[in-house]
Amino acid sequence: CGIVGYIGHREAYPVVIKGLKRLEYRGYDSAGVMVYDGALKLCKTKGKVVGLEERALKEITTSGTIGIGHTRWATHGVPNDVNSHPHLSNSGELAIVHNGIIENYAPLKEELVKRGYVFHSDTDTEVLVNLIEEVQKKENLKLGKAVQLALNQVVGAYAIAVFDKKNPVEIVAARLGSPLAIGVGEEEYFIASDASPFIEYTSNAVYLEDGEMANISLRKPIKIRKIKDDSLVDPYIQELQMNLEQIEKGGFDHFMLKEIFEQPSVIKDTYRGRLHADKGIIQMSGIEDNLEKFLNADRIIIVACGTSWHAGLVAEYIIEEFARISVEVEYASEFRYRNPIINSKDVVIAISQSGETADTMAAIKLAKEQGAFVFGVCNVVGSSISRESHAGAYTHAGPEIGVASTKAFTTQITVLTMLALRLAKAKGTLTHSDFHRYLLELELIPEKVKEALGTIERAKEIAAAFKDAPNCLYLGRGYNFPVALEGALKLKEISYIHAEGYPAAEMKHGPIALIDEQMPVVVIAPKQGHYDKIVSNIQEIKSRSGKIIAVVTKGDTQVRELADYVIEIPETSDALSPLITTIPLQLLSYYIAVYRDCNVDQPRNLAKSVTVE
Ligand code: G6P
Repeated sequence: CGIVGYIGHREAYPVVIKGLKRLEYRGYDSAGVMVYDGALKLCKTKGKVVGLEERALKEITTSGTIGIGHTRWATHGVPNDVNSHPHLSNSGELAIVHNGIIENYAPLKEELVKRGYVFHSDTDTEVLVNLIEEVQKKENLKLGKAVQLALNQVVGAYAIAVFDKKNPVEIVAARLGSPLAIGVGEEEYFIASDASPFIEYTSNAVYLEDGEMANISLRKPIKIRKIKDDSLVDPYIQELQMNLEQIEKGGFDHFMLKEIFEQPSVIKDTYRGRLHADKGIIQMSGIEDNLEKFLNADRIIIVACGTSWHAGLVAEYIIEEFARISVEVEYASEFRYRNPIINSKDVVIAISQSGETADTMAAIKLAKEQGAFVFGVCNVVGSSISRESHAGAYTHAGPEIGVASTKAFTTQITVLTMLALRLAKAKGTLTHSDFHRYLLELELIPEKVKEALGTIERAKEIAAAFKDAPNCLYLGRGYNFPVALEGALKLKEISYIHAEGYPAAEMKHGPIALIDEQMPVVVIAPKQGHYDKIVSNIQEIKSRSGKIIAVVTKGDTQVRELADYVIEIPETSDALSPLITTIPLQLLSYYIAVYRDCNVDQPRNLAKSVTVE
């Protein structure tokens, strides 16, 4: 979910609505807004923020200068009008927006019901706002104190913003486990799940840490305290690097397409200052300072979710090959719940675009408790995972807004490749000449990605031919097996076509039964991989009449004879090929989704940042 708040001299409604649109990547099942202008004006609805705007046009007019808003990814309670936020307390005096989950909501609710509280929604959030009210009434407390005492009774995760009609010049915000930023302007404050809603108004922001709350009012300077023991914390105001252009579409139809096309430049941004091919140097401060930890590691465990997990799989191949350190890749959600064996000689790498994924965060906390060294690979600067890690390396992909991850994936692979090369250099596991060759090749990747983007017309043609397919299979070997998984995930996510990625050789142990003349099979078959083996796999598909779409190295002739469609990409070494082979698969899924009239940037049921477990 995404939350927004505003207090200042502007009209709050347009600020909040615009902010919610920027945060829709966090969830878009339902949306709502509350503005106070002497009376409390509330409007909420199932569906997207545009729907909320339409409804608000009919239902409320307000020029109030304080307000809060929410865009939801449902956890408790189906997405409908009633379950949408903001939620009001029983007296109608308090309003809250909440991102996260209150785990002990059931006993709290039971207690409140006994005390006469009535609940209108199925949400855990309505329990929280009534708990705050109950605490406030009992001891006649100010809002801040009541929020604090209530939160101390709560188990779960939250980022909240609370408003009290009795003191309509203040918003109280708090966080535990879900992100919250406060934009500090001139005589105005913004509250949001990330800085994008206020970047056009101010570049000064305070990020609340876990377990902190803030009283935000125009009358007094901002006050931050620890929820648990009430101790005061000095607000640390930082200057944001993000700019408005980065979070707008810049002439592309969708964020996803814009982000696909940004890859040549963001891959370069990611290695800039770290890779010096001419001097034969790779340097990343997070590694230099902790080199011994890596070199003494018995093994590396990679934890991640979704697309980041796929980047982890690519890294497994690369790190094992280059640096000869054994690597395990785990879904963060499985790792954390299965009592894993971890010790102080383990290095855990957490990969996360947002840096906020709840399962990944919990996995690294567990690893830290057991003495492992945690290295974060995140895109969002200052995110929870980047702060919780002992050290790390940022990807420099810039804000990724499309829910289907593209540029985050390739920049993650870029960072992890550099990490593997750096370790290989220290360990002497690559020859001098191979090391240099890889550095030079990595430097050429942005140009080759650009060339691979030239397959756009081909992708359109193939997408038009297969847009109505009910299923699709993706096959790859070695470094390109994770790319097959990622290709299938992209298609599933945005076009709702069932797709599976498989190691090409495994096909004969099951998926081959699915192949008939209706079945498109995307095969990643660059020259450098296990080419002959994959050609045999293509033969197997062909003899069962499957439709073959092959991603091949420019100039390939053998596969061309067998495949129904080929997509040619520039040549690079096997280990770096995922950075190139991924590109046409992104374009293919994009156009299939466009031709099926799907909402590319905001596919149904998904959210970009999953801050629930
Ligand atoms: C969600 C997103 C995916 C992303 C995954 C992990 O499911 O829709 O695109 O790969 O979360 O997110 P992270 O921010 O940790 O990389």
